[in-house]
Amino acid sequence: MHVVREVTDGLYWIGANDHRLTLFENIHPIPEGVSYNSYVSLGEKTILFDTVDWDACRQMLENLEYVLDGRDLDYIIVNHWEPDHAASLQEVLDRYPDAKVIGNLKGFQLAEQFGFHIDESRKITVNEGDVIEAGDHKLTFLFMPMVHWPEAMVTLDLSNGALFSADAFGSFKALDGKLFNDEVNYDRDWIDENRRYLTNIVGKYGPHIRSILKKAEPVLDQVKFICPLHGLVWRNDFGYLLDKYNHWASYEPEEKGVMICYASMYGNTEQAAQALAAKLCELGVPNVSVHDVSNTHVSYLISEVFQKSHVVLASCTYNLGIFPVMLSFLEDMKALNVQNRTFAVIENGSWAIRSGDLISDFLDNKMKTITVLNDRLTIASHLKEGQEEELDSLALTIKESMRDQVL
Ligand code: FEO
Repeated sequence: MHVVREVTDGLYWIGANDHRLTLFENIHPIPEGVSYNSYVSLGEKTILFDTVDWDACRQMLENLEYVLDGRDLDYIIVNHWEPDHAASLQEVLDRYPDAKVIGNLKGFQLAEQFGFHIDESRKITVNEGDVIEAGDHKLTFLFMPMVHWPEAMVTLDLSNGALFSADAFGSFKALDGKLFNDEVNYDRDWIDENRRYLTNIVGKYGPHIRSILKKAEPVLDQVKFICPLHGLVWRNDFGYLLDKYNHWASYEPEEKGVMICYASMYGNTEQAAQALAAKLCELGVPNVSVHDVSNTHVSYLISEVFQKSHVVLASCTYNLGIFPVMLSFLEDMKALNVQNRTFAVIENGSWAIRSGDLISDFLDNKMKTITVLNDRLTIASHLKEGQEEELDSLALTIKESMRDQVL
């Protein structure tokens, strides 16, 4: 049975939802699933925009056959060759042997690496800015290297304003019947998964995202639909979406808030984290959250770091170093280019307390444009009643630092 949605006259979503996959890229949990979006345009020519992950192939093929309704497929445009989108391509190529494949040179190189068999006579290689007339549809292409792979590009259908944006503007979370941004409560139900996808998958490539946003500026007024490869199709409110992307891609916090992340073996460091959270809330500091890094998947931590202005890292000392899960979180922040944040540090140890110095050193020397507040709290095994003044001082320092920050 087909499961399709009409995007606009003659353009259909023919993708599929996946609730069976537990780890996206075999690393990021997706408890709310994910969608693989594929689209078909029916004009004088029929055009397929990207395919889907192998797990979703059967559904996409049924959808394609239904929408084509006996017509042949003329073109397949591959904007992104990563297997969560291109894995089903060979199946489509074999079923529709007359279809030509439109892609760029880097894309076709990847196709060869992945073992696709595409006869040279079927390939149409495009360069940036090329315009192809496919029947009554005019298509143009913008390259967006490293969003998320080097070959990635977007296709703009100049005839109906549909921008096929590949991974850009994509999101975790299955569509489950919905398709458009105005069919959901985005701020309540989608933004966290959207941010978690963006920051973990392409967070490292903020400058590349900014570059494609800039490159797209001259054609933005022609865009009526943003059709990504995962998640919602946007048909209005582009300003809101672009503002979010500009924040994430510039590593600027979305809001003032404090995220307290603790690594605690026996609950003592955890207690200090909770005590600080209570002090901050008493002082009226907004958006305070507390996370156990041992029990929170790092993709959620990364997403919240991109959201908030302040981060407190509270770690016990372990083997004279930083507790391993906290170190792993730091390494992830570095890998994903986290910057422009203010950090505070709480350290704990029963002898040779080292975690604070090591965390500060990491933040100062391995990450970019990070402010580390001087007011470090040091705990010897357990936070003492006599340390309340130190705790108050740290909470106040964080509050003042937030007050002075302009967002
Ligand atoms: Fe959804 Fe980079 O693939």
